[in-house]
Order: sequence, then C-alpha cells, then structure tokens
Amino acid sequence: MSRQKLYVTSPLYYVNDNPHIGHAYTNLACDVWARFMRLDGHDVFFLTGTDEHGQKVEKSAELAGLSPKDFVDEKSQSFRDLFKAFDFSNNDFIRTTEPRHKKAVHHIWNLLLERDQIYLSSYSGWYAIRDEAFYNESELIDGKAPTGAPVEWVEEPCYFFRLSAWQDRLLEFYEKHPDFMHPRSRGNEVLSFVRGGLKDLAVSRTTFKWGIPVPNDPTHVMYVWFDALTNYITALDYPNENWQQDFWANAHHVMGKDILRFHAVYWPAFLMAADLMPPKQIVAHGWWTNEGEKISKSLGNVINPFDLIEKYGLDQTRYFLMREVSFGNDGNFSHQAVVKRMNSELANDLGNLVQRVLVQVSKNCAQKVPEKGTLLPQDSALIEKAYKTLEQVRHEFWHWGFHKALDQIWEVIGDANRYIDEQAPWGLKKTDLKRMETVLYTLCETIRVVGLLVQPFIPKTANQILDLVGVKSEYRDFAHILSALVSGVDLPQPNVLFPRFVEEAA
Ligand code: MSP
Repeated sequence: MSRQKLYVTSPLYYVNDNPHIGHAYTNLACDVWARFMRLDGHDVFFLTGTDEHGQKVEKSAELAGLSPKDFVDEKSQSFRDLFKAFDFSNNDFIRTTEPRHKKAVHHIWNLLLERDQIYLSSYSGWYAIRDEAFYNESELIDGKAPTGAPVEWVEEPCYFFRLSAWQDRLLEFYEKHPDFMHPRSRGNEVLSFVRGGLKDLAVSRTTFKWGIPVPNDPTHVMYVWFDALTNYITALDYPNENWQQDFWANAHHVMGKDILRFHAVYWPAFLMAADLMPPKQIVAHGWWTNEGEKISKSLGNVINPFDLIEKYGLDQTRYFLMREVSFGNDGNFSHQAVVKRMNSELANDLGNLVQRVLVQVSKNCAQKVPEKGTLLPQDSALIEKAYKTLEQVRHEFWHWGFHKALDQIWEVIGDANRYIDEQAPWGLKKTDLKRMETVLYTLCETIRVVGLLVQPFIPKTANQILDLVGVKSEYRDFAHILSALVSGVDLPQPNVLFPRFVEEAA
C-alpha cells in the first residue's frame, strides 16, 4: 500500500479529575495504531490533549479552592505525565485553553453564524454537568440521565445550532460511508438516535463563565463540546490557509462508547455546516470494569494507571490492556488476569523462547547469528509463517482488531516453541552441529520477525529483542520484514525479558 498521511486522535480528557485507566486505554489504542502505521510506512499524526472548559471543570476548581486557570494547568500536567510514563508517541498535545484553539473556535463559530446555522434563542430543559450534555425529558430514566448522571433543570438564553436541518444529510452520509462508525454494532445505536429525530442543539451557556466567550456576545460562553470537538482541526492549523487538510482527509477519532454521539452526530453536522469534510472514521471502544464492578469514584475502585505500570511494568500493562478484551467490547480488569497473561504469555511463551534460543546461541554458536546452512521444509514453514503474519496483522490493524493481531503473533510464538521442542537443538549439539546451527538460525529469524511485529504493543521489549538478535535500528520497519538475519554477526549477551510476577507473601 502506498504511503498515506493518517490522522489519529484520542478524545481530549476532562481535567476535572486525575487520569484513570480509561484515559490510558483510549490513548494506548491510538498509540499502538499510530506506531503500527508508522512502521508500515505511513506518515502519522497522533493528537491527544485536555478538555479544560465547562461547568464540570469550573466546579472542580472551585472545590479545590483554585482559580480555574491554576487548576487546569495543574491537572493538564498530570495527563502529560501519564502519557510520558506510558511512552505514548503523540505528535502534539493540545489544550483547549490555548490561543490557537480559541482562534479556530471563533472562526468556525463566525462561519456558522454567517451561514445562518447558529441563532439566538433560549433553552429550557435538562442538563447533566457530569456528562456536559443536554437531555430530552423522554431520555431520562428515574429522573436521571441514561448514563446515571444527575440532571438539573436549566433555563437560559442560548445560541442554537440548526442540528435538525442536518438529519437527512447525516443519514445519507452514514449510508454512503458504511465504515464511518466502527464497530458497526455501535453505529446502529447512533443511526436509531438520528432516525428518531434531531432537535437543534444549544451551543452556548450563560450561567457560568469558564469557557470560550462567544464572539461579539461575551455574556455567553461556548458549549464545551462545540469548543472541544473543534480541537481536532485546530491542531492541524485550521483556519490558516495552508492547514493540513491532507491529514484531515484521513482522520480517525478513537474514543469510548459513551461519547460516540458527540463525535458521530454533532461533529459531522458542525463540519458539514461549515462546508468542511467530516472525519473518515469514528472508532468506539468499550468500558473497563474493575474485578467485575463498574469503576466509579464513589465505589472507591478507580484504577490509577501510574500504579499499574509501577506494579506490573509498562510493557506488561500495555500488553494486557490490548490483549485482554476484544477492542470495541467492554472488558474486566482483574489482578489475576494480568498475572496470568504476564506469566504465561509474556514470561513463558515469548520471554522463555527468546531466552532459550539466545542462551544456546551464546553457548554453542560463539554468540553470533548461527550459520543458516540448508533449510528443511519445517524450517522454511516456520519462517514463512512469521513473514505472512505481517499481512494478517496489517488487516487487523485496519479493522481495529488489536487482540486478533496479538493472537496471530502469538500463534507464531506458539509454533516456534513447538518447533524448538521437536527439533531439540540441545541434542543436536552432540550429533549434528550443522543442523543445530540451522535450527537455531531458524529460531533467531523467527524471533526477529516477532520482535518487529510486537513493536507497536510493547516497544521497549521489542527493542530489546531486536537488539538481542542484532537487528540494526534502520532495519526495524516493516519494509524490512524480509531482510533476514546474516549469519556470523556478533550478538550481545542474552538477558531475561520478562521476570515472572510473584505474589508477595501475605
Ligand atoms: N472531554 C470529553 C471528550 C471530548 S473530545 C473532543 C470526555 N472526556 S473524559 O475524560 O470524560 O473521557 C475520556 C475518555 O475516557 C472517553 O473515551 C471515555 O470513554 C474513556 N473512559 C472513561 N472511563 C472509562 C472506563 N472505565 N473504561 C474505558 N474507557 C473509559 O469525554
């Protein structure tokens, strides 16, 4: 496939609270995808950042006894720290309080006003501060938002966006672009929401101050979602004349299922109304529970992502989050499940394979890439299978099937483990040195390919593996998948990749 410009975004995280596992998860998915696509030769722009305006943040600042500005500065930094700790490869970190963003939001607001897409009226209805969302009476369940958030009755002058006028064009757009919402099952929920009829959307508020002022009417601040969604084009230099539309043409917005409606309905409508192209794809993932329970502050079971990497290790955490659930579905976090995957899939399957092979290479092949010699069919079969896995993994990545991609890679690892047991190179040491070298060469070459393929998921360990089999850094992208190891190259001393997780004695 030819080189493309690809744009992948995480949501902008509310800074009302500290980062939790959900934030780390959405960003991890973007990071793994971005890394894969870069390795596959594409030019990727990965954006993340913080959503800093609105009533929820204003209230949290008040509670913390800080000015909103001081509060958001501090909280935004904790997200930056998290992303650094997780080794995320974002190209930009945007804050909605930055001047560049205000400029873009003002521009699009004025454009919509000029086009008669925004008008002044007044809103009376329900609002949930926790969700920063308006709800119809008919949507409430037992007097609460469908998300369980408390609602309050608000009556205030508001500017409205003519969302109702876009209903048919949105439906037409979804029909023409069947891959717009991923997975399709979640897209169906959005379709029925739109088919149910769209009302005009309030896009300004007057009962608090912490937001971007409406141009020429500063008694209003913009509705936080109008402000926040626009960040996706701010970061591409909109509205400057040469804004990066080539990235925009391939925009993939990744998020949790709870905010699909904002991205799949409101956002494309704002864009179409401004005569801009909707994003290419909206990708929704499921939610994590903790040991079977819904994660909530009131239950006191929020998972702190810094603690995870401290306890299990960074690559172990990254691997677990990507492997444990099928992306798009809900998933459960449990200590036992992490330990099981760490010890069986990372320490045993992958770690031991690399260790066993490289210790033998070190002892019996003078710590050099072994002599390839003549490959037998079983040797070529293993290597060929490893090469072919790239194609399958690539297919999975274009369909957001991270867990399936890992399955494919672990199938190769499983085959390599069976191969080493069957070929028993330790026995060949006494009977057939040449064959021993070929078997170990076959294994090193397979490990090289596995090392390449796991890079997006566990970048640190992948680098270690590639160092151990002597792959130079400029040979680590997927264009070099067939650049086989050269016999005789010196290798470093093998080391353990994944220590087993041992429970502390009670
Ligand atoms: N600020 C908005 C997004 C604006 S984008 C223009 C927002 N922020 S958020 O901080 O509340 O949520 C960010 C992301 O975290 C969402 O994708 C949400 O789905 C995700 N998660 C929050 N809790 C989660 C879990 N328990 N599990 C998985 N992800 C969850 O919404």
